[in-house]
Amino acid sequence: MLGFVRLNRPKVLNAINREMVSEILAAFEYMDREENVRAIVLSGNGRAFAAGADIDEMADEGSIDFERLNQFADWDRLAVVKKPIIGAVHGFALGGGFELALVCDILFAAEDAKFGFPEVNLGVMPGAGGTQRLTKLIGKTKAMEWLWTGEMHPAQEACDLGIINRVVAPEVLMEETKKFALQVAQKPPLSVRLIKDSVLKAIDYSLYEGMQYERKNFYLLFSSEDQKEGMRAFVEKRRPDFKGR
Ligand code: HXC
Repeated sequence: MLGFVRLNRPKVLNAINREMVSEILAAFEYMDREENVRAIVLSGNGRAFAAGADIDEMADEGSIDFERLNQFADWDRLAVVKKPIIGAVHGFALGGGFELALVCDILFAAEDAKFGFPEVNLGVMPGAGGTQRLTKLIGKTKAMEWLWTGEMHPAQEACDLGIINRVVAPEVLMEETKKFALQVAQKPPLSVRLIKDSVLKAIDYSLYEGMQYERKNFYLLFSSEDQKEGMRAFVEKRRPDFKGR
C-alpha cells in the first residue's frame, strides 16, 4: 500500500508555512509507523509543487523568533523518515519547496517543473538544507551558480545534473510516480529500509565508516524472515512471499 501526501495551499502556490511542515511531518511519521504503508508519495497541487517557504510568515521576523520557534527541528525529523519517499514535482519547486523535494529519496518531475533557490533575491539564503543537499548532489561549481543567481532551471536540466530521477509528461506524472512507488513497495520492506539508511549514511560518512555501517545492516538482514524466505524461494525456484519481518 502507498501513502499519499499532497501539498494543498494552491492559492499561494503551496507556500510552506510552519503549520504545513508540522502537518507533513505528522503524516510522514504516521505512515512510517503504519505497517501496511510501504512507500510515501509526496506531490503538489494547483500550479506548483511549492514556491518556497511562506514569505508572508517570515517577512517581519527576527533571528530570535527563529531560535525560539526552532522550526528546523521538524525539517530534521523529515530527513530521518525510514520509508521511501517518492516525490512527484510539477510547476514550481523553489526555495523551501525545492528543499522539501530534496528530502525525497526519488524524484519524478513533469516537463513543466522548474527548480531553483530564489532566496538570494530576498536578501537571504536557503535554510532547510538547500546549500548542503544541492552541493552534495551536483558539486560546488554548479551549486554556487544556482544559489548565487537564484534562477529557475527546467526539469530536464535538473535530471541531467542528477537532481531528479525522471522527467515525464505532466499528464502522466502521478501515474508514473505511483508505478515506481509500487515497484519499490513490492520489495522486502526491511531491505528497502536498510538500503535507504545506508545510502543516506554514504552522504555523511567516509567510505570506510560507510562500509562498516553497511556491513552491520547487511548482517542485520540475516536475522529477518524475509532473508530466509527470499533465499529459500530462489533455491526452490518459486516466487518469494515477503512479510516484512
Ligand atoms: C508566500 C507566495 C509565495 C511564497 C507565491 N506566493 N510564492 N506567498 N510565499 N513563497 C503567492 C503570491 O504572493 C500570490 O499571492 C500567489 O502565490 C500566486 O503567485 P504569483 O506571484 O501571482 O504567481 P506568478 O506571477 O505565476 O509567479 C510565480 C512565482 C512567484 C515566480 C513562483 O510567485 C514567486 O517568485 N514566488 C516566490 C518564490 C520565492 O522567492 N521562494 C523562496 C521563498 S524563501 P496573491 O495573494 O498575490 O495572489 C524560502 C526560504 C526557505 O523558501 C527557508 C527554509 C524553510
